[in-house]
Amino acid sequence: MSKKIFSGVQPTGNLHLGNYLGALKNFVYLNNDEKNKCIFCVVDLHAITIKQDPKELKNNIRETVATFIASGIDPKRSIIFNQSRVAAHSEAAWILSCIARMGWLNRMTQFKEKAGKDKEKASVGLYSYPVLMAADILLYDATHVPVGDDQKQHLELCRDIAQKFNNDYQIENFLQVPEPLIQKEFSRIMSLKDGSKKMSKSEQSDLSRINLTDDNDQIINKIKKAKTDSLPMPKDLKELDKRPEARNLLGIYSSLTDSNLEKSLQIFAGKNFSKFKEVLADKLVSKIGPISKEIKKLLVERQYLDEILLNGVEKANSIASKKIERIKEIVGF
Ligand code: TYM
Repeated sequence: MSKKIFSGVQPTGNLHLGNYLGALKNFVYLNNDEKNKCIFCVVDLHAITIKQDPKELKNNIRETVATFIASGIDPKRSIIFNQSRVAAHSEAAWILSCIARMGWLNRMTQFKEKAGKDKEKASVGLYSYPVLMAADILLYDATHVPVGDDQKQHLELCRDIAQKFNNDYQIENFLQVPEPLIQKEFSRIMSLKDGSKKMSKSEQSDLSRINLTDDNDQIINKIKKAKTDSLPMPKDLKELDKRPEARNLLGIYSSLTDSNLEKSLQIFAGKNFSKFKEVLADKLVSKIGPISKEIKKLLVERQYLDEILLNGVEKANSIASKKIERIKEIVGF
């Protein structure tokens, strides 16, 4: 079956192994199937929900495109564009914010995490962020949305918004209710320093994550320093439940080798952590090393990256502007 794929990544710098294993790897897999129509969006409007340095943001937009391509997305067989250049996203977000309910948004755990203790000081944009995300997806009639586990709740909200819009305006199946594509395993990669925290761009310590721009030495060093416990490698899956750091590292190994925890355990059970870390670092170097090199190479080719975006904006605009016109007609503008 052919799928209409839509997904987005924030250009906030430091794209990391979690983004790769949770999302980008799946983007590439879906993009490789010629039957699928893929749209990958650099969501710069989402990025400014937290203050950004304008110069850095500009560079990060290009770096995100470079990362897409270095990871294996084919710009000829997908639409790659930045959100702020397609006005329909902001327009649809406003209209859909009149459909979404406060009660729904109040439940969003990512807002609570990101706003922290002082919610009063968070931007209004950070709060209504999932509505803009719904606009992104619904403008393109996306059938499937590949994301990491942390976006699951936002996708449920998107489905609720689509259904409520269709119901309120009595227009069956006008907004396509999308299916999330979240990998069953390894869709939440954890910090290398704390197995109970998600690997994240905003975590202060750079040792907590493998950046996709890290060179081989940095990768090896970070895996050496990754937190483990003093016991040998676990023997079975049950033991893993009490050892989050071991679970995370084995998960990373399994995902990189397209395997699963059970099979990986068969190889490493009872062995020394240092031996396992050597093998893991090797795998990471052979997977992430070439991506890192390619990103750096592409970053010099500014014009090439800008052309990809320009071309993508044109194609995205021609789809989204038609949909927003229909939305406006339906609501009575
Ligand atoms: P963002 O930019 O935070 O992350 C991009 C993608 O990476 C996944 N991800 C992870 N997966 C596994 N383990 C991790 N530690 C990890 N960290 C991040 C995210 O789940 C995501 O798939 N709101 C979105 C961007 C967005 C979007 C959209 C996505 C805007 N509009 C429309 C899909 C459809 C976000 O902030 O992703």
